[in-house]
Amino acid sequence: MDWNHLQDLWDAQQQAYLPDREDRISAMLDIVEVARGPGPRILDLACGTGSITRRVLIRLPASSAVLVDVDPALLAIAAGTFEGESRVRICSADLRRASWRHALGEPDGAFDAVLTATALHWLPPDRVAGVYQEAAALLRSGGILANADHIVDEGLAVLEKPLRELAQARSQEVQLQTQALDWDGWWTMLKGQPELAPLVAERDEIFGHHEGSSHTESYLSSTWHLSALRAAGFSRTGIAWRRQADAVVVGVR
Ligand SMILES: C[S@@+](CC[C@H](N)C(=O)[O-])C[C@H]1O[C@@H](n2cnc3c(N)ncnc32)[C@H](O)[C@@H]1O
Repeated sequence: MDWNHLQDLWDAQQQAYLPDREDRISAMLDIVEVARGPGPRILDLACGTGSITRRVLIRLPASSAVLVDVDPALLAIAAGTFEGESRVRICSADLRRASWRHALGEPDGAFDAVLTATALHWLPPDRVAGVYQEAAALLRSGGILANADHIVDEGLAVLEKPLRELAQARSQEVQLQTQALDWDGWWTMLKGQPELAPLVAERDEIFGHHEGSSHTESYLSSTWHLSALRAAGFSRTGIAWRRQADAVVVGVR
């Protein structure tokens, strides 16, 4: 398998939906670098194919990362990409259950930063709050949690739906111009790879996908996220980046 090619296809697919994806990841890495220095230990939470970790390792070569996700197909692409990379460990665990923290096999305080992007909206609100608590336990004092996602500014909630519709229309234009795969096209392409097709079927079981169904999405406001971070034990919280209804919320342990 050409894992790097699959990584590039994943990035192009995500980038078509999130034109400022590199910018938001870069904002997360800025925070980690200034707060934790050149060799942080990172937890890449709901890592997908490992896009965040790839960027962390390039920018901060003295860093190391543990990647966690529940999707066997995306984890296989991550494992292929980072094969032989001593700075990386990959782990399968389900964030819908608090037990993911123990499945990780890492002690409390093991990480300088927990980074996650475009993922926690797949969880119901009580589990987002739970993940913040579990992540807090895994962080050292002064450690950083950064979550980049669709995170609405409550004061502009009325604009959220039309902004989302505009973004969807733009992403369709980008897909046409760049030939990037859309979400369904990505999974159809993976199902066409004999090595990955059984893992995509396993994934459909894990997420309870059936033809035409999609995962649940809960979009919470920045007020909600900052309050949940404080309740989870983060002493300082704020917004490190925002564009319209997307943001990077940060908690300092
Ligand atoms: C849109 S992808 C983003 C992946 C990666 N962070 C990125 O930016 O490229 C969302 C990810 O969340 C993961 N995810 C969703 N629900 C999960 C759960 N319950 N446990 C672990 N990972 C989950 C999915 O498998 C997927 O990899």
